[in-house]
Amino acid sequence: MSDNVGSIVGINGNLITVKFDNPVTQSEVGYARTGETALKAEVIRIRGENAELQVFEDTTGLKVGDPVEFSGNLLAVELGPGLLAQVFDGLQNPLPKLAEQCGFFLQRGTYLKALDREKKWTYTPRARKGDELTAGDTLGTVPEGIFEHRIMVPFRLTGKWRVEEAAAAGSYNVDHVVARLRNERGDIRPVTMVQEWPVKVPIKAYAERKRPVEPLVTKVRIIDTFFPVARGGVYCIPGPFGAGKTVLQQITSRHADVDIVLVAACGERAGEVVETLREFPELTDPRTGKSLMERTMIICNTSSMPVAAREASVYTAVTICEYYRQMGLNVLLLADSTSRWAQALREMSGRLEEIPGEEAFPAYLESVIAAFYERGGVVKLKDGTTGSVTIGGTVSPAGGNFDEPVTQATLKVVGAFHGLNRERSDARRYPAIHPLDSWSKYPGVVDEQQVADARRVLRQGNEVSQMMKVVGEEGTSIEDFVVYLKSEFERFTAMDFATKGVVVHDLATGRDQSHPNADLQHLYCIGATPDGKWYLSTVHAGMGFAHGILAIQAQGSQVFNLKIPGCRSDVSPDGKRIAWASGDYSLAIGELDFSGPERRVVNPHDILVSPKPMKIQHIDWSPDGRYVAFSRGPYKKGLGLAPSLIGIQAPGWDICVGDPSTTNRWVAITTDGKSNKEADWIPLPKTR
Ligand SMILES: Nc1ncnc2c1ncn2[C@@H]1O[C@H](COP(=O)(O)OP(=O)(O)O)[C@@H](O)[C@H]1O
Ligand SMILES: [Mg+2]
Repeated sequence: MSDNVGSIVGINGNLITVKFDNPVTQSEVGYARTGETALKAEVIRIRGENAELQVFEDTTGLKVGDPVEFSGNLLAVELGPGLLAQVFDGLQNPLPKLAEQCGFFLQRGTYLKALDREKKWTYTPRARKGDELTAGDTLGTVPEGIFEHRIMVPFRLTGKWRVEEAAAAGSYNVDHVVARLRNERGDIRPVTMVQEWPVKVPIKAYAERKRPVEPLVTKVRIIDTFFPVARGGVYCIPGPFGAGKTVLQQITSRHADVDIVLVAACGERAGEVVETLREFPELTDPRTGKSLMERTMIICNTSSMPVAAREASVYTAVTICEYYRQMGLNVLLLADSTSRWAQALREMSGRLEEIPGEEAFPAYLESVIAAFYERGGVVKLKDGTTGSVTIGGTVSPAGGNFDEPVTQATLKVVGAFHGLNRERSDARRYPAIHPLDSWSKYPGVVDEQQVADARRVLRQGNEVSQMMKVVGEEGTSIEDFVVYLKSEFERFTAMDFATKGVVVHDLATGRDQSHPNADLQHLYCIGATPDGKWYLSTVHAGMGFAHGILAIQAQGSQVFNLKIPGCRSDVSPDGKRIAWASGDYSLAIGELDFSGPERRVVNPHDILVSPKPMKIQHIDWSPDGRYVAFSRGPYKKGLGLAPSLIGIQAPGWDICVGDPSTTNRWVAITTDGKSNKEADWIPLPKTR
């Protein structure tokens, strides 16, 4: 421990005032001792011979006169292989390890090394003896998950350094010295695979910063078309409580086209983080086929953890992102919620008795927020490759009022704004991004003219809707009404068939049971094989599929795409065949082959093709498997009258019965065009 020891002269919540004799520095880490426990703290202000420190833990039991040891180091994180797939708290303690040590209730004053000291990494040297290097240059690499983790010249070394000694290829732990470097002055530095970096200082061991211009595909339709995010750009998602900020970030963290995702849960409810922790290891990354967690890190500082550590968690997160950017990777940082972080700032500023700004936030709030978002960006590294850190932060203003200081300060620095709207989330139009309030300065993947046209429709539709509030639907001209309907059409604004999960209700016990696969979503027309082992369902715009018919394991998490184009399948009562709408105007059948490891449909072929404009939908097998019933009618979309919808009458639609053993043999059994479309065969009770 250091010999620079001060003593506590005042305690105000998490803020302690410490009288010191030897010099201390701003942002230096100190440990306040009470009995056997040493509580980590950071110097946030120095005045005269007193330093003020924010303690990252509960300060109960600390008293005036207790010693504070100044470490001489700034608040820093450990950087090296083994960060991926980890769950840390705001001070970079690995949470699972901490739990192993402390049990369910974490004890204060317990700090662990972020990286595993035992684990061996397969090191391949890249720099050779005699090479001249500067900070950030690669000494060697180790494989970490699917990436090549670069072991770099420590970022804090300035000037040129010559390799005096380089370790041979081999298997080493992170503390092994992989190189010795010497500078012009003759200083020698041993370099291991770990380096420390102060969290409040951006890592700048790159050649130059570039403008973010390449779109980052998030796979959320409204974002990618209307309000694109750039790779290396920064954006924010403000929205009232419960409007879907966290869910939107979770969706983005799974599907966004980046190498690494860091989720920083800052002061939000613990339950949501638990969900992420449970789900991520089980989800497969669509790009690599491996567990999603392998490319994800989580920094978790929930509402139940000490407030002061929230501030640290945001900086810890962005520093780790910058570190991976130095390896030429594209990193996405999702911070939820920056408002909770700002509240921590406000709390501390109040204790420091600083002059308050708007709504009692500190007057420097804007510059703190700007400095955080500035750490995102695209950089060209010294070896010519590029890396990026994209930052998406949620803001949760009280009452959804975007005029408050945190939202306003954030708006000044971000390049895209995805404003969530209470009305939309109440109407379950997810994601509830308001298409008129939101904006983006980044270029997208969709043709600009088309975006402009679509936005014009939305704007005009909004005008008509305002007008309609006054004059009513009757007072609105048909032309205006059409504009309104177009603007409300969900294709522009929302995901359709947005369902989440599958629940099975047991009639005998009356109990509901959620399907074990929590990733099931956007399913419709679910049927089952007669043995109850498989559900067959259509998915639309969900689970990584644009559209498809899936075989979903009833008791497990396996999902197979049956790779038959179309929707609305029905399994024959003997479980051997499947019938489905192979297009809007055709009906197909095929045989289910579930014998192999890959569940599939063999011999798929159309049994009915209907001339346009008469569509075919809503299929049902007869109990003996000899016929299929279906409905047929013209496509005409009116207010709430899309014929594809279930449970509504659509004009001109009739019930028909077809013979699946041949082609185009069918009869219409209703002819008045007034059917409700979904026919269902009823087996007659057996009589002797
Ligand atoms: N995209 C979505 N699809 C389906 N449901 C959603 C979606 N977004 C939000 N929800 C629903 O809204 C609830 C609240 O969302 P959440 O993200 O926790 O809100 P916030 O973080 O803004 O407080 C979720 O639990 C979920 O039921
Ligand atoms: Mg939330």
